[in-house]
Amino acid sequence: MDNFTFYAPTYFDFGKGAEQHAAELVRRFGGSKVLLHYGGGSIKKSGLYDRVAECLEQAGIPYVTLGGVKPNPRSGLVYEGIELCRREKVDFILAAGGGSTIDSAKAIAAGTLYSGDFMDFYRGKKTIQQALPIGTILTIAAAGSEGSPNTVITDEATQIKKGARSDLLRPKFSILNPELTCTLPPYQTAAGATDIMIHVCERYFSNTEEVEITDRLCEAVLKTMIHETPRVMAEPGNYEARANIMWAGMLAHNNICGVGRIQDWASHHIEHELSALYDVTHGAGLAVITPLWMRYVWKTNPHKLVMFAERVWDIPPDEEHPEETALRGIERFEAFLRQIGMPSSFKEIGARKEDIGRMTDQLLAGRETEGNYVKLKREDVIQIYESAVKGW
Ligand code: NZQ
Ligand code: ZN
Repeated sequence: MDNFTFYAPTYFDFGKGAEQHAAELVRRFGGSKVLLHYGGGSIKKSGLYDRVAECLEQAGIPYVTLGGVKPNPRSGLVYEGIELCRREKVDFILAAGGGSTIDSAKAIAAGTLYSGDFMDFYRGKKTIQQALPIGTILTIAAAGSEGSPNTVITDEATQIKKGARSDLLRPKFSILNPELTCTLPPYQTAAGATDIMIHVCERYFSNTEEVEITDRLCEAVLKTMIHETPRVMAEPGNYEARANIMWAGMLAHNNICGVGRIQDWASHHIEHELSALYDVTHGAGLAVITPLWMRYVWKTNPHKLVMFAERVWDIPPDEEHPEETALRGIERFEAFLRQIGMPSSFKEIGARKEDIGRMTDQLLAGRETEGNYVKLKREDVIQIYESAVKGW
């Protein structure tokens, strides 16, 4: 196991009705004037917006609002949010929604206290030195932004989607009420589940040895998702299944499953080019790419794929042909994704073969390789994209 530091100070308030504690938590973490940030309207439809507004009003906490965050959040609204926070002297951002809303809130939080262009953080030109505190009320189990130090934004000028990271962006508190996720359309539920599983895979597929504790934590999260996702697809209102998935989504990405090892992240970076260019739902893009990434690397470096097959998918080991065991595991993963309605090819997500060169250039942007489990060169990335034209 490698040396590591781990600092994850988010306060979680989990369970039915937890959003009623929003005002109390804002106060506890020092907020006196709030920006309530949200997406395209699902929180108005579900009544969450009214409940949160009432809760703030009853507590006498002044607030301004900014809605309109789109999935794959854009830079334009972030600039608007920064201006609003400065003008209104906002000192706390409350994000009510999914990963897109939370990521947009994180960008506003860092940008408000920075004199330059906030995109500097995403272009790797500057590191975040300070940020407004944020709290979240999560409405979709997927991105894990409620417990992560990460934010991903698409630059509208260039259509490039990039991430930034700082422990200063970890939410002060996150309210996780699984009931709020019951209104999700089936496709978003499935895409969210896929994203959760692949956050674990990005950590699991590592060449760092002697990481039994984090391997076993990863396997626990994956097995839980394999059990709970079909349950929730069949019964969208199943509270217990929603609850398990919601906490799995947090565990998958606050890095408790990933410390002490070199992680991969090739699938995510390959996918981000798709969601930037075609506005694909992130989890659906991952459903196309990750099995193909697995199929591409399995012969070069099968050892973790064998473990994935045996321990996660319960494939009996084939001692003489371990790579066959690995392949059975990949096939089981694909069957699972198919069962929950995820896409498998470019065609299903509206991606085009003609853009492969451009996406690869943007992805590598001067770097020689992508990923760590197997270091992918430019021609490897191209082959993975090309295999996605036909799909798995
Ligand atoms: O905008 P609204 O109207 O709220 O609708 C959203 C949106 O259309 C809808 N939705 C959310 N909760 C709902 C609901 N609809 C009905 N009922 C509810 N309870 O679902 C759609 C998707 O929402 P979004 O926030 O985009 O989903 P997700 O949480 O999957 O976030 C995706 C974004 O997170 C980034 C992705 O790249 C993508 O931009 N990621 C962020 C990470 C991080 N910060 O750590 C890591 C991830 O790997 C990921 O890259
Ligand atoms: Zn993800």
